[in-house]
Amino acid sequence: SNSESFVQCFSSHLQNSNSSNEIILPRTSSAYPSVLDFSIQNLRFLNNSTPKPEAIITPFDESQVQAAVICSKKSGIQIRIRSGGHDYEGLSYVSRAPFIIIDLFNLRSIDVDIKNESAWVKSGATLGELYYNIAQKSKVYGFPAGTCPTVGVGGHISGGGFGTIFRKYGLASDNVIDARIVDVNGRILDRKSMGEELFWAIRGGGGSSFGVILAWKLRLVPVPPTVTVCDVTKTKEQGATKLLLKWQKIADKLPEDFFLHSVVGSSDNTITVEFGSLFLGRVDKAVQVIQENFPELSLESSHCSEMSWIQSVLDSAGYSIHESLEILLKRRQFSYFFKAKSDFVTEPISEAGLEGLWHLLLEANTSFMILTPYGGKMSEISDSETAFPHRKGNKYEIQYMVTWGDGKDTKKYVGFMRRLYAYMAPYVSKSPRAAYLNYRDLDLGRNSYGNTSYAQASIWGLKYFKNNFRRLVHVKTLVDPGNFFRNEQSIPVFSSGK
Ligand code: FDA
Repeated sequence: SNSESFVQCFSSHLQNSNSSNEIILPRTSSAYPSVLDFSIQNLRFLNNSTPKPEAIITPFDESQVQAAVICSKKSGIQIRIRSGGHDYEGLSYVSRAPFIIIDLFNLRSIDVDIKNESAWVKSGATLGELYYNIAQKSKVYGFPAGTCPTVGVGGHISGGGFGTIFRKYGLASDNVIDARIVDVNGRILDRKSMGEELFWAIRGGGGSSFGVILAWKLRLVPVPPTVTVCDVTKTKEQGATKLLLKWQKIADKLPEDFFLHSVVGSSDNTITVEFGSLFLGRVDKAVQVIQENFPELSLESSHCSEMSWIQSVLDSAGYSIHESLEILLKRRQFSYFFKAKSDFVTEPISEAGLEGLWHLLLEANTSFMILTPYGGKMSEISDSETAFPHRKGNKYEIQYMVTWGDGKDTKKYVGFMRRLYAYMAPYVSKSPRAAYLNYRDLDLGRNSYGNTSYAQASIWGLKYFKNNFRRLVHVKTLVDPGNFFRNEQSIPVFSSGK
Protein backbone atom coordinates (compact mmCIF):
# COMPACT_ATOMS: atom_id res chain seq x y z
CA SER A 1 0.00 0.00 0.00
CA ASN A 2 0.99 3.68 -0.32
CA SER A 3 1.52 3.98 3.39
CA GLU A 4 3.75 0.88 3.60
CA SER A 5 5.88 2.13 0.74
CA PHE A 6 6.11 5.53 2.44
CA VAL A 7 7.23 3.98 5.75
CA GLN A 8 9.80 1.84 3.98
CA CYS A 9 11.21 4.78 2.02
CA PHE A 10 11.25 7.09 5.05
CA SER A 11 12.85 4.49 7.32
CA SER A 12 15.66 3.94 4.85
CA HIS A 13 16.31 7.69 4.84
CA LEU A 14 16.34 7.68 8.65
CA GLN A 15 18.99 4.96 8.73
CA ASN A 16 21.17 7.24 6.65
CA SER A 17 20.70 10.07 9.12
CA ASN A 18 21.54 7.83 12.15
CA SER A 19 18.64 9.25 14.12
CA SER A 20 17.72 7.69 17.44
CA ASN A 21 14.60 9.79 18.04
CA GLU A 22 11.09 8.51 17.45
CA ILE A 23 10.26 10.48 14.34
CA ILE A 24 7.68 8.38 12.59
CA LEU A 25 4.50 7.51 14.46
CA PRO A 26 2.40 4.91 12.62
CA ARG A 27 -1.22 4.38 13.70
CA THR A 28 -0.07 1.52 15.94
CA SER A 29 2.32 3.73 17.92
CA SER A 30 1.20 4.45 21.48
CA ALA A 31 2.12 8.12 21.10
CA TYR A 32 0.06 8.53 17.89
CA PRO A 33 -3.30 9.58 19.43
CA SER A 34 -1.85 12.10 21.87
CA VAL A 35 0.44 13.70 19.28
CA LEU A 36 -2.42 13.87 16.76
CA ASP A 37 -4.90 15.40 19.21
CA PHE A 38 -2.51 17.76 20.98
CA SER A 39 -2.60 20.52 18.33
CA ILE A 40 -6.24 20.17 17.30
CA GLN A 41 -7.61 23.60 18.20
CA ASN A 42 -11.09 23.22 16.79
CA LEU A 43 -12.94 20.39 18.57
CA ARG A 44 -15.16 19.96 15.48
CA PHE A 45 -12.32 17.82 14.12
CA LEU A 46 -11.58 15.83 17.25
CA ASN A 47 -13.85 12.81 16.80
CA ASN A 48 -13.86 9.29 15.38
CA SER A 49 -15.42 10.23 12.07
CA THR A 50 -12.61 12.67 11.15
CA PRO A 51 -10.17 10.96 8.73
CA LYS A 52 -6.86 10.15 10.41
CA PRO A 53 -3.34 10.17 8.94
CA GLU A 54 -1.54 6.93 8.10
CA ALA A 55 1.41 8.22 10.13
CA ILE A 56 2.67 11.37 11.82
CA ILE A 57 6.21 12.53 11.13
CA THR A 58 7.76 14.71 13.82
CA PRO A 59 11.09 15.87 12.35
CA PHE A 60 13.95 17.05 14.54
CA ASP A 61 16.04 18.23 11.66
CA GLU A 62 15.50 19.62 8.21
CA SER A 63 16.76 16.55 6.34
CA GLN A 64 13.86 14.58 7.82
CA VAL A 65 11.39 17.05 6.31
CA GLN A 66 13.14 16.62 2.97
CA ALA A 67 12.84 12.82 3.29
CA ALA A 68 9.14 13.05 4.18
CA VAL A 69 8.42 15.13 1.06
CA ILE A 70 10.49 12.89 -1.25
CA CYS A 71 8.97 9.68 0.13
CA SER A 72 5.37 10.87 0.13
CA LYS A 73 5.70 12.00 -3.47
CA LYS A 74 7.32 8.71 -4.44
CA SER A 75 4.66 6.59 -2.74
CA GLY A 76 1.70 8.71 -3.90
CA ILE A 77 0.52 9.64 -0.43
CA GLN A 78 -0.61 13.17 0.40
CA ILE A 79 0.88 15.29 3.14
CA ARG A 80 -0.59 17.77 5.56
CA ILE A 81 1.77 20.27 7.18
CA ARG A 82 1.08 21.33 10.74
CA SER A 83 2.70 24.08 12.76
CA GLY A 84 0.34 25.27 15.53
CA GLY A 85 -2.79 23.43 14.33
CA HIS A 86 -5.04 26.51 14.49
CA ASP A 87 -6.44 26.15 10.98
CA TYR A 88 -10.16 26.93 11.37
CA GLU A 89 -11.16 24.05 9.08
CA GLY A 90 -8.52 21.58 10.24
CA LEU A 91 -6.68 21.55 6.90
CA SER A 92 -3.32 20.97 8.60
CA TYR A 93 -4.38 17.56 9.95
CA VAL A 94 -7.44 16.31 8.00
CA SER A 95 -7.63 14.98 4.45
CA ARG A 96 -10.06 12.79 2.52
CA ALA A 97 -7.19 11.12 0.62
CA PRO A 98 -4.70 8.77 2.37
CA PHE A 99 -2.19 11.12 4.00
CA ILE A 100 0.57 11.66 6.51
CA ILE A 101 1.08 14.69 8.74
CA ILE A 102 4.41 16.47 8.97
CA ASP A 103 4.04 17.96 12.44
CA LEU A 104 6.74 20.56 12.97
CA PHE A 105 6.50 21.03 16.74
CA ASN A 106 10.03 19.69 17.33
CA LEU A 107 11.45 22.20 14.86
CA ARG A 108 10.88 25.33 16.85
CA SER A 109 14.16 26.94 17.86
CA ILE A 110 14.33 30.73 17.84
CA ASP A 111 17.48 32.75 17.37
CA VAL A 112 17.03 36.44 18.25
CA ASP A 113 19.71 38.85 17.02
CA ILE A 114 19.04 42.24 18.61
CA LYS A 115 22.11 43.85 17.07
CA ASN A 116 20.76 43.19 13.58
CA GLU A 117 17.10 43.66 14.65
CA SER A 118 16.16 40.24 13.31
CA ALA A 119 15.32 36.69 14.35
CA TRP A 120 15.39 33.27 12.67
CA VAL A 121 12.34 31.33 13.82
CA LYS A 122 11.74 27.71 12.91
CA SER A 123 8.22 27.18 11.68
CA GLY A 124 7.03 24.87 14.47
CA ALA A 125 7.40 27.69 17.00
CA THR A 126 4.36 29.52 18.36
CA LEU A 127 3.83 33.26 18.58
CA GLY A 128 4.11 33.01 22.37
CA GLU A 129 7.52 31.38 22.06
CA LEU A 130 8.60 34.11 19.64
CA TYR A 131 7.43 36.97 21.89
CA TYR A 132 9.00 35.30 24.96
CA ASN A 133 12.36 34.89 23.23
CA ILE A 134 12.41 38.50 22.06
CA ALA A 135 11.54 39.70 25.59
CA GLN A 136 14.40 37.65 27.04
CA LYS A 137 16.80 39.72 24.95
CA SER A 138 15.20 43.17 24.90
CA LYS A 139 12.38 45.24 26.39
CA VAL A 140 12.28 47.62 23.42
CA TYR A 141 11.75 45.24 20.53
CA GLY A 142 8.66 43.33 19.52
CA PHE A 143 7.10 41.71 16.48
CA PRO A 144 3.80 42.62 14.77
CA ALA A 145 1.92 39.30 14.75
CA GLY A 146 -1.28 37.88 16.28
CA THR A 147 -2.53 38.01 19.84
CA CYS A 148 -3.06 34.32 20.59
CA PRO A 149 0.23 32.87 21.90
CA THR A 150 -0.52 29.27 20.84
CA VAL A 151 -0.86 30.14 17.13
CA GLY A 152 1.95 28.60 15.06
CA VAL A 153 4.27 30.77 12.98
CA GLY A 154 4.13 28.32 10.03
CA GLY A 155 0.48 28.93 9.12
CA HIS A 156 0.09 32.39 10.65
CA ILE A 157 2.92 34.20 8.91
CA SER A 158 2.36 32.52 5.55
CA GLY A 159 -1.27 33.73 5.62
CA GLY A 160 -0.60 37.33 6.76
CA GLY A 161 -0.88 37.66 10.54
CA PHE A 162 -1.97 40.76 12.38
CA GLY A 163 -2.17 41.93 15.98
CA THR A 164 -2.14 45.10 18.05
CA ILE A 165 0.77 46.88 16.34
CA PHE A 166 0.02 46.14 12.70
CA ARG A 167 -1.31 49.66 12.01
CA LYS A 168 2.23 50.86 12.67
CA TYR A 169 4.31 48.02 11.28
CA GLY A 170 2.11 46.01 8.90
CA LEU A 171 1.46 42.29 9.00
CA ALA A 172 3.75 39.57 10.26
CA SER A 173 4.28 38.58 6.61
CA ASP A 174 5.31 42.16 5.76
CA ASN A 175 8.20 41.73 8.17
CA VAL A 176 9.69 38.56 6.72
CA ILE A 177 13.15 39.15 5.27
CA ASP A 178 14.14 35.60 4.38
CA ALA A 179 12.70 32.09 4.57
CA ARG A 180 13.76 28.47 4.18
CA ILE A 181 11.42 26.08 2.40
CA VAL A 182 11.49 22.46 1.24
CA ASP A 183 10.15 22.37 -2.31
CA VAL A 184 8.37 19.58 -4.16
CA ASN A 185 11.71 18.05 -5.18
CA GLY A 186 12.91 17.91 -1.61
CA ARG A 187 15.39 20.76 -2.04
CA ILE A 188 15.94 23.36 0.66
CA LEU A 189 15.63 26.87 -0.77
CA ASP A 190 16.21 30.26 0.82
CA ARG A 191 15.08 33.64 -0.49
CA LYS A 192 17.91 33.83 -2.97
CA SER A 193 17.53 30.33 -4.38
CA MET A 194 13.71 30.29 -4.36
CA GLY A 195 13.52 33.61 -6.22
CA GLU A 196 11.33 36.63 -5.57
CA GLU A 197 8.14 35.15 -7.08
CA LEU A 198 7.94 32.25 -4.63
CA PHE A 199 9.10 34.53 -1.81
CA TRP A 200 6.23 36.88 -2.77
CA ALA A 201 3.71 34.00 -2.74
CA ILE A 202 4.52 32.60 0.70
CA ARG A 203 3.99 36.02 2.29
CA GLY A 204 0.19 36.03 2.39
CA GLY A 205 -0.58 33.24 -0.08
CA GLY A 206 -0.43 30.49 2.57
CA GLY A 207 2.49 28.07 2.79
CA SER A 208 0.77 24.78 2.19
CA SER A 209 0.35 25.20 -1.60
CA PHE A 210 4.06 25.72 -2.19
CA GLY A 211 6.17 23.53 0.09
CA VAL A 212 7.11 23.04 3.72
CA ILE A 213 8.35 26.26 5.25
CA LEU A 214 11.17 25.41 7.63
CA ALA A 215 11.94 28.84 9.07
CA TRP A 216 11.36 32.56 8.74
CA LYS A 217 13.87 35.35 9.15
CA LEU A 218 11.91 38.20 10.71
CA ARG A 219 12.56 41.90 11.10
CA LEU A 220 12.09 42.91 14.74
CA VAL A 221 10.38 46.25 15.35
CA PRO A 222 11.04 48.87 18.05
CA VAL A 223 8.50 49.34 20.84
CA PRO A 224 8.68 51.96 23.61
CA PRO A 225 9.56 50.82 27.17
CA THR A 226 6.04 51.81 28.26
CA VAL A 227 2.83 51.23 26.33
CA THR A 228 -0.76 51.94 27.37
CA VAL A 229 -3.70 49.55 27.30
CA CYS A 230 -7.24 50.94 27.75
CA ASP A 231 -10.62 49.32 27.88
CA VAL A 232 -14.17 50.72 27.91
CA THR A 233 -17.23 48.46 27.62
CA LYS A 234 -20.75 49.73 26.95
CA THR A 235 -24.06 47.97 26.54
CA LYS A 236 -26.65 48.83 23.94
CA GLU A 237 -28.63 50.60 26.67
CA GLN A 238 -25.55 52.67 27.53
CA GLY A 239 -25.25 53.92 23.95
CA ALA A 240 -22.97 51.28 22.42
CA THR A 241 -24.61 51.56 18.98
CA LYS A 242 -23.93 55.29 18.62
CA LEU A 243 -20.37 54.78 19.85
CA LEU A 244 -19.81 52.09 17.26
CA LEU A 245 -21.16 54.37 14.54
CA LYS A 246 -18.55 56.94 15.51
CA TRP A 247 -15.83 54.28 15.92
CA GLN A 248 -16.36 53.23 12.31
CA LYS A 249 -15.54 56.75 11.20
CA ILE A 250 -12.38 57.32 13.20
CA ALA A 251 -10.64 54.02 14.03
CA ASP A 252 -8.79 53.71 10.71
CA LYS A 253 -7.75 57.37 10.83
CA LEU A 254 -6.17 57.43 14.29
CA PRO A 255 -2.39 57.87 14.46
CA GLU A 256 -0.69 54.59 13.55
CA ASP A 257 0.65 54.26 17.12
CA PHE A 258 -2.95 53.77 18.21
CA PHE A 259 -4.85 50.52 17.83
CA LEU A 260 -8.48 50.72 18.95
CA HIS A 261 -10.54 47.67 18.11
CA SER A 262 -14.06 46.79 19.15
CA VAL A 263 -15.45 43.46 20.21
CA VAL A 264 -19.20 43.03 19.92
CA GLY A 265 -20.81 40.31 21.99
CA SER A 266 -24.14 39.38 23.46
CA SER A 267 -24.79 38.49 27.06
CA ASP A 268 -27.71 38.78 29.49
CA ASN A 269 -29.98 39.49 26.54
CA THR A 270 -28.17 42.63 25.54
CA ILE A 271 -25.41 43.66 23.20
CA THR A 272 -22.07 44.77 24.61
CA VAL A 273 -19.31 46.53 22.75
CA GLU A 274 -15.84 46.53 24.21
CA PHE A 275 -13.50 49.22 22.92
CA GLY A 276 -10.00 47.96 23.64
CA SER A 277 -6.83 49.77 22.71
CA LEU A 278 -3.08 49.59 22.69
CA PHE A 279 -1.10 52.80 22.38
CA LEU A 280 2.65 52.80 21.80
CA GLY A 281 3.25 55.56 24.37
CA ARG A 282 2.25 56.93 27.78
CA VAL A 283 -1.24 57.18 29.24
CA ASP A 284 -1.68 60.96 29.16
CA LYS A 285 -1.04 61.03 25.42
CA ALA A 286 -3.35 58.04 24.87
CA VAL A 287 -6.21 59.80 26.66
CA GLN A 288 -5.51 63.01 24.73
CA VAL A 289 -5.66 61.23 21.34
CA ILE A 290 -9.03 59.71 22.19
CA GLN A 291 -10.43 62.93 23.65
CA GLU A 292 -9.53 64.71 20.42
CA ASN A 293 -10.81 62.05 18.02
CA PHE A 294 -13.51 60.18 19.91
CA PRO A 295 -14.70 62.35 22.85
CA GLU A 296 -18.01 60.41 23.00
CA LEU A 297 -16.10 57.43 24.45
CA SER A 298 -15.30 59.53 27.57
CA LEU A 299 -11.98 57.74 27.96
CA GLU A 300 -10.15 58.60 31.18
CA SER A 301 -6.83 57.48 32.56
CA SER A 302 -8.71 55.25 35.03
CA HIS A 303 -9.71 53.05 32.03
CA CYS A 304 -6.05 52.58 31.16
CA SER A 305 -2.90 50.89 32.47
CA GLU A 306 0.71 51.50 31.58
CA MET A 307 2.88 48.44 31.09
CA SER A 308 5.74 47.01 29.06
CA TRP A 309 5.04 45.75 25.55
CA ILE A 310 5.46 42.12 26.59
CA GLN A 311 2.92 42.67 29.39
CA SER A 312 0.50 43.94 26.75
CA VAL A 313 1.06 40.62 24.97
CA LEU A 314 -0.03 38.81 28.17
CA ASP A 315 -3.02 41.11 28.46
CA SER A 316 -4.16 40.54 24.84
CA ALA A 317 -3.86 36.80 25.42
CA GLY A 318 -6.23 37.05 28.38
CA TYR A 319 -3.59 36.60 31.09
CA SER A 320 -2.84 38.88 34.04
CA ILE A 321 0.02 41.24 33.24
CA HIS A 322 1.73 40.03 36.42
CA GLU A 323 1.78 36.43 35.21
CA SER A 324 5.24 34.97 34.66
CA LEU A 325 6.29 35.20 31.01
CA GLU A 326 6.82 31.42 30.91
CA ILE A 327 3.06 31.10 30.43
CA LEU A 328 3.62 32.28 26.86
CA LEU A 329 5.48 29.03 26.21
CA LYS A 330 2.36 26.90 26.76
CA ARG A 331 1.35 25.37 23.43
CA ARG A 332 -2.27 24.91 24.50
CA GLN A 333 -4.53 27.49 26.09
CA PHE A 334 -8.13 26.58 25.34
CA SER A 335 -9.97 24.71 22.63
CA TYR A 336 -13.65 24.56 21.79
CA PHE A 337 -16.00 23.83 18.92
CA PHE A 338 -16.14 26.85 16.67
CA LYS A 339 -17.10 28.25 13.30
CA ALA A 340 -15.79 31.58 12.06
CA LYS A 341 -15.95 33.82 9.01
CA SER A 342 -14.48 37.13 7.95
CA ASP A 343 -15.41 40.28 6.04
CA PHE A 344 -13.84 43.59 5.08
CA VAL A 345 -15.77 46.83 5.51
CA THR A 346 -15.14 49.78 3.18
CA GLU A 347 -18.09 52.03 4.17
CA PRO A 348 -19.50 52.48 7.68
CA ILE A 349 -22.47 50.22 8.44
CA SER A 350 -25.69 52.22 9.02
CA GLU A 351 -27.52 52.37 12.36
CA ALA A 352 -30.36 50.27 10.90
CA GLY A 353 -27.82 47.72 9.72
CA LEU A 354 -26.32 47.47 13.21
CA GLU A 355 -29.75 47.18 14.87
CA GLY A 356 -30.62 44.22 12.62
CA LEU A 357 -27.28 42.67 13.45
CA TRP A 358 -27.92 42.95 17.20
CA HIS A 359 -31.15 40.95 16.77
CA LEU A 360 -29.27 38.15 15.10
CA LEU A 361 -26.36 38.14 17.57
CA LEU A 362 -28.79 37.78 20.46
CA GLU A 363 -29.88 34.41 19.05
CA ALA A 364 -26.56 32.81 20.04
CA ASN A 365 -25.04 34.23 23.19
CA THR A 366 -21.68 32.59 22.50
CA SER A 367 -21.23 34.53 19.29
CA PHE A 368 -19.04 37.58 18.98
CA MET A 369 -17.47 39.81 16.38
CA ILE A 370 -14.01 41.34 16.46
CA LEU A 371 -13.73 44.56 14.46
CA THR A 372 -10.11 45.34 13.60
CA PRO A 373 -9.30 48.82 12.26
CA TYR A 374 -7.11 49.15 9.17
CA GLY A 375 -5.41 52.32 7.93
CA GLY A 376 -1.95 53.43 9.02
CA LYS A 377 0.85 51.32 7.55
CA MET A 378 -1.72 48.95 5.99
CA SER A 379 -2.80 51.73 3.60
CA GLU A 380 0.77 52.52 2.61
CA ILE A 381 1.63 49.04 1.33
CA SER A 382 0.37 48.29 -2.17
CA ASP A 383 -2.12 45.44 -2.76
CA SER A 384 0.45 43.55 -4.83
CA GLU A 385 3.53 44.06 -2.60
CA THR A 386 2.95 40.58 -1.18
CA ALA A 387 0.22 38.01 -1.84
CA PHE A 388 -1.95 39.51 0.95
CA PRO A 389 -4.22 41.94 -0.95
CA HIS A 390 -6.41 43.68 1.66
CA ARG A 391 -4.84 47.10 2.05
CA LYS A 392 -5.94 50.66 1.26
CA GLY A 393 -9.67 51.30 1.12
CA ASN A 394 -10.56 48.97 3.96
CA LYS A 395 -11.89 50.68 7.06
CA TYR A 396 -11.88 47.55 9.14
CA GLU A 397 -12.04 43.79 9.11
CA ILE A 398 -14.65 41.71 10.88
CA GLN A 399 -14.14 38.28 12.36
CA TYR A 400 -17.41 36.53 13.24
CA MET A 401 -17.04 33.70 15.69
CA VAL A 402 -19.43 31.34 17.43
CA THR A 403 -18.32 28.72 19.93
CA TRP A 404 -20.09 25.78 21.57
CA GLY A 405 -19.28 23.00 23.96
CA ASP A 406 -21.11 19.94 22.64
CA GLY A 407 -20.60 18.29 19.25
CA LYS A 408 -24.35 17.62 19.00
CA ASP A 409 -24.90 21.36 18.50
CA THR A 410 -22.56 21.72 15.51
CA LYS A 411 -25.28 21.88 12.85
CA LYS A 412 -27.22 24.50 14.80
CA TYR A 413 -24.29 26.87 15.30
CA VAL A 414 -22.81 26.44 11.82
CA GLY A 415 -26.30 27.26 10.48
CA PHE A 416 -26.42 30.33 12.70
CA MET A 417 -23.06 31.53 11.39
CA ARG A 418 -24.19 31.12 7.79
CA ARG A 419 -27.32 33.20 8.45
CA LEU A 420 -25.27 35.91 10.11
CA TYR A 421 -22.94 36.01 7.09
CA ALA A 422 -25.88 36.19 4.67
CA TYR A 423 -27.36 39.09 6.66
CA MET A 424 -24.11 41.05 6.43
CA ALA A 425 -23.76 40.85 2.63
CA PRO A 426 -25.14 44.35 1.86
CA TYR A 427 -22.85 46.01 4.40
CA VAL A 428 -19.44 44.64 3.47
CA SER A 429 -16.99 44.52 0.54
CA LYS A 430 -18.41 43.25 -2.74
CA SER A 431 -17.19 41.79 -6.06
CA PRO A 432 -15.44 40.00 -4.58
CA ARG A 433 -16.74 39.78 -1.03
CA ALA A 434 -13.23 39.64 0.43
CA ALA A 435 -12.11 37.24 3.17
CA TYR A 436 -8.95 36.66 5.22
CA LEU A 437 -7.11 33.41 4.46
CA ASN A 438 -6.08 32.88 8.08
CA TYR A 439 -9.77 32.80 9.05
CA ARG A 440 -10.23 29.88 6.71
CA ASP A 441 -13.79 29.15 5.68
CA LEU A 442 -14.61 26.18 3.44
CA ASP A 443 -18.11 27.59 2.84
CA LEU A 444 -16.42 29.99 0.40
CA GLY A 445 -15.67 27.10 -1.93
CA ARG A 446 -13.35 24.15 -2.18
CA ASN A 447 -11.22 22.30 -4.68
CA SER A 448 -12.32 19.00 -6.20
CA TYR A 449 -10.81 15.78 -5.03
CA GLY A 450 -8.68 15.56 -8.19
CA ASN A 451 -7.46 18.56 -10.16
CA THR A 452 -9.32 21.85 -9.96
CA SER A 453 -9.64 24.40 -12.75
CA TYR A 454 -8.63 28.03 -12.37
CA ALA A 455 -12.29 29.03 -12.82
CA GLN A 456 -13.50 26.73 -10.06
CA ALA A 457 -10.79 27.78 -7.61
CA SER A 458 -11.45 31.46 -8.41
CA ILE A 459 -14.71 31.19 -6.50
CA TRP A 460 -12.82 31.14 -3.21
CA GLY A 461 -9.42 32.32 -4.51
CA LEU A 462 -10.55 35.79 -5.55
CA LYS A 463 -12.11 36.33 -2.13
CA TYR A 464 -8.88 35.61 -0.29
CA PHE A 465 -6.44 37.03 -2.82
CA LYS A 466 -8.33 39.41 -5.14
CA ASN A 467 -6.10 40.47 -8.05
CA ASN A 468 -3.18 38.49 -6.64
CA PHE A 469 -4.90 35.17 -7.23
CA ARG A 470 -3.83 34.80 -10.87
CA ARG A 471 -0.20 35.53 -9.97
CA LEU A 472 -0.37 32.93 -7.20
CA VAL A 473 -1.57 30.35 -9.75
CA HIS A 474 1.38 31.30 -11.98
CA VAL A 475 3.85 30.79 -9.13
CA LYS A 476 2.22 27.49 -8.20
CA THR A 477 2.37 26.27 -11.82
CA LEU A 478 6.04 27.15 -11.91
CA VAL A 479 7.15 25.58 -8.62
CA ASP A 480 4.76 22.63 -8.26
CA PRO A 481 3.38 21.82 -11.73
CA GLY A 482 2.23 18.36 -10.64
CA ASN A 483 0.08 19.91 -7.86
CA PHE A 484 1.65 17.73 -5.17
CA PHE A 485 1.06 20.21 -2.32
CA ARG A 486 -2.70 20.36 -2.33
CA ASN A 487 -5.73 20.62 -0.11
CA GLU A 488 -9.34 21.84 -0.25
CA GLN A 489 -8.19 25.43 -0.70
CA SER A 490 -4.71 25.13 -2.14
CA ILE A 491 -3.68 27.28 -5.11
CA PRO A 492 -4.39 25.28 -8.31
CA VAL A 493 -2.08 24.97 -11.33
CA PHE A 494 -2.94 26.24 -14.80
CA SER A 495 -3.73 23.30 -17.01
CA SER A 496 -1.41 23.28 -20.04
CA GLY A 497 -1.68 26.26 -22.33
CA LYS A 498 -3.83 28.46 -20.06
P1 FDA B 1 -1.90 25.16 11.23
O1 FDA B 1 -0.75 24.35 11.67
O2 FDA B 1 -3.27 24.57 11.38
O3 FDA B 1 -1.66 25.63 9.73
C1 FDA B 1 -2.55 26.47 9.02
C2 FDA B 1 -2.31 26.29 7.52
O4 FDA B 1 -0.95 26.58 7.21
C3 FDA B 1 -2.53 24.86 7.04
O5 FDA B 1 -2.96 24.89 5.69
C4 FDA B 1 -1.15 24.25 7.11
O6 FDA B 1 -0.96 23.14 6.28
C5 FDA B 1 -0.27 25.42 6.71
N1 FDA B 1 1.04 25.36 7.32
C6 FDA B 1 1.33 25.34 8.66
N2 FDA B 1 2.66 25.29 8.85
C7 FDA B 1 3.22 25.30 7.61
C8 FDA B 1 4.55 25.24 7.16
N3 FDA B 1 5.58 25.19 8.01
N4 FDA B 1 4.78 25.22 5.83
C9 FDA B 1 3.76 25.26 4.95
N5 FDA B 1 2.46 25.33 5.32
C10 FDA B 1 2.20 25.34 6.65
N6 FDA B 1 -4.80 35.32 13.08
C11 FDA B 1 -4.35 36.60 13.09
O7 FDA B 1 -3.95 37.13 12.06
N7 FDA B 1 -4.32 37.30 14.27
C12 FDA B 1 -4.71 36.77 15.45
O8 FDA B 1 -4.65 37.44 16.48
C13 FDA B 1 -5.19 35.42 15.45
N8 FDA B 1 -5.64 34.83 16.60
C14 FDA B 1 -6.09 33.54 16.59
C15 FDA B 1 -6.54 32.93 17.77
C16 FDA B 1 -7.01 31.61 17.77
C17 FDA B 1 -7.47 30.99 19.06
C18 FDA B 1 -7.04 30.89 16.55
C19 FDA B 1 -7.56 29.47 16.53
C20 FDA B 1 -6.58 31.48 15.38
C21 FDA B 1 -6.13 32.80 15.37
N9 FDA B 1 -5.69 33.42 14.19
C22 FDA B 1 -5.23 34.72 14.23
C23 FDA B 1 -5.72 32.69 12.92
C24 FDA B 1 -4.37 32.05 12.62
O9 FDA B 1 -3.50 33.05 12.12
C25 FDA B 1 -4.52 30.95 11.56
O10 FDA B 1 -5.39 29.95 12.03
C26 FDA B 1 -3.16 30.36 11.20
O11 FDA B 1 -3.23 29.74 9.93
C27 FDA B 1 -2.70 29.37 12.23
O12 FDA B 1 -1.41 28.92 11.99
P2 FDA B 1 -0.95 27.53 12.66
O13 FDA B 1 0.42 27.26 12.21
O14 FDA B 1 -1.26 27.56 14.12
O15 FDA B 1 -2.01 26.55 12.01
